[in-house]
Amino acid sequence: MQFLNQLTALYKKLTWTWNPGSDKEAGDAIVKNVLLHAFPNKVSKGSLSWKYSMYLGTISFVLFVILVVTGLILMFLYVPSVERAYSSVKDLEFVVSFGWLLRSLHRIAAHLMVAVVFLHMVRVFLTGAYKNGKSVGSNRPLNWIIGLGLLLMTLLLSFTGYLLPWDQLAYWAITVGTNIASSAPVVGDKIRFFLLGGNFIDQNALIRFYVLHVFFLPMIVVFLFVWHMWRIRKDGGLAVVDQEALTQKPEKVIPVKSKTYSLLGITNGSSVHVQTTMVNEEENSVASIPNLTRRLWLVTLGTIIVTVILSIIFRAPLEAAANPAVTPNPAKAPWYFLWLQEIVTISTIPLGFVTINGALIGGIILPTVMICLAVWWPYRDPSGINSVGVWFAPERKKQNRIFIIICLFIIIFTIIGTFLRGPYWNFYFPWEAWPTMPVKY
Ligand code: HEM
Repeated sequence: MQFLNQLTALYKKLTWTWNPGSDKEAGDAIVKNVLLHAFPNKVSKGSLSWKYSMYLGTISFVLFVILVVTGLILMFLYVPSVERAYSSVKDLEFVVSFGWLLRSLHRIAAHLMVAVVFLHMVRVFLTGAYKNGKSVGSNRPLNWIIGLGLLLMTLLLSFTGYLLPWDQLAYWAITVGTNIASSAPVVGDKIRFFLLGGNFIDQNALIRFYVLHVFFLPMIVVFLFVWHMWRIRKDGGLAVVDQEALTQKPEKVIPVKSKTYSLLGITNGSSVHVQTTMVNEEENSVASIPNLTRRLWLVTLGTIIVTVILSIIFRAPLEAAANPAVTPNPAKAPWYFLWLQEIVTISTIPLGFVTINGALIGGIILPTVMICLAVWWPYRDPSGINSVGVWFAPERKKQNRIFIIICLFIIIFTIIGTFLRGPYWNFYFPWEAWPTMPVKY
């Protein structure tokens, strides 16, 4: 009987059907719980909408957590040494119970994270959510820049993880990636040396990538993510609240000129009113618990289920052990850099005595220009307050179009690089057979 009671109590704890009786009860619960502290007591109905954010940022975070959990278990089994890395991954695949699933989960979650973070950025752009609205003290352009940092860290995390299996795929993808970096004028070779810890991909490079992958980069992601979330609260919530605010009357603040107040000497003011960063207060908002938390659990569960299913369907590949003497043809960068490899190839043009340096154009100049533009754009974007937090606002038609065209180029070039490029980077349709000399000695 006691066991049954314990089981019921456990079930209740896990399913957590608590509904707060009042705002105060909900507020108290949030203040007392460090995890729930991340949420405001109330959230606007608009920001809960599936159609607005599609919860892509949340999905990105859940994928990151899956990566951390599976990655920590992988650390018990993987050995970061040139002699043993490949065999430890092979053991995972063929000897360790469910090792293949663990590896597959980690790999699929990593691929999904790159794709979902990219889609999240596209959603933020198309909803004009990087612009300030009416919320007091908001600085959404800064949060966009923090987001760009997160995108860059996500790519680096994936890139550094790529080398670790130490198979042919890993070795040559990193060779292509770091060769592109070395095409920068003057400092190119130094950049490659810095990335690899030497002139070749060997033990120094492996341990460097490993330490970055399991410690420094995840730490930076955690730091940037906490800052990202904190900024959303400081910005008064998701940008969609600014549209709701436009339909509301501003709160009356009566300045009291005759007397000044001081809060423990930390801050002074002429009014005892504390200005809130939330523009909308009552009409459009509901308690975070359970309205937001319930949706977050649902998104978390959905993401885990999809990742597990995909991991079972698409097993992580493992090619032959890395061999610097055998160059696969074609040697491809990781898939999310293939659009750049494609640009590198088509912009390498021999003109008699000189050759236009495609690696410099596609590998250095273009990404640098794109990053600078992305950082600068939120400050330059001329669209008005009516288009903040709105999907495809008419006022932003032109810039949305240009942005979509750039994204389509990236996607199309990635597809071409992944599926339609064969030996010597020649174009092959999927139904065409490659010639039989894919390996160069
Ligand atoms: C690891 C990567 C990232 C994570 C985990 C993350 C997480 C989140 C989460 C949870 C939200 C709340 C809304 C939602 O779920 O969509 C959000 C909003 C936001 N994110 Fe990210 N994000 C990431 C990358 C990015 C990138 C690459 C950008 C843009 C370059 C970006 C810019 C923003 C902005 C501006 C908002 C506020 C959106 C609004 O007000 O509607 N984030 N992010």
